[in-house]
Amino acid sequence: MISMATTSNPAKSGAAKSSPAKIDLAKIKEVRDSVDRLYSEGRGADRLMEGITDLLNEQMLKYNWVGFYMLEEGTTPPVLVLGHYRGAMTPHTRIPLNQGICGAAASSGKTVVVDDVHKDSRYLACSLETKSEIVVPVFVNGNVVGELDIDSHFPAAFRGEDRKLIEYCAQLVGQRLESK
Ligand code: SME
Repeated sequence: MISMATTSNPAKSGAAKSSPAKIDLAKIKEVRDSVDRLYSEGRGADRLMEGITDLLNEQMLKYNWVGFYMLEEGTTPPVLVLGHYRGAMTPHTRIPLNQGICGAAASSGKTVVVDDVHKDSRYLACSLETKSEIVVPVFVNGNVVGELDIDSHFPAAFRGEDRKLIEYCAQLVGQRLESK
């Protein structure tokens, strides 16, 4: 009797189901599954990047600007060139490796997460509303060839599972580029 009363408390189970953390995790899993579907459709890298850009921007509430920058082949010194993107138009369509958070991620080969862009002197502004940003490099055979850049209107939007999802997307694009 006691255990029935404890386990069937609708108020408790309802509260647990609707907690924001659980909703976020369920959404991240759903989006990850959709990314897997895009990959398994056998799209070329370009169409995969387009699909990922659309999916992340449409499905993830806090991913307000999503885009890929790719290293231009044969340019010395190297420059990142804006590819597929969703969100506000940006003045930064070509970024040298010594500039911006984008340049820092590509030149170090490491994910850069900025919880408050206004406190980071490297930040190149795209939109006045942006509060946080993540840039994840894309690798082909161990070399950086580009990156996935996401801006949020919310501070510190790219921790934990969000970061893992975005790194997973960048990794799939690298894999597809490698296999072409
Ligand atoms: N904020 C980036 C520039 C690209 S825009 O955000 C789209 C940077 O600091 O490199």
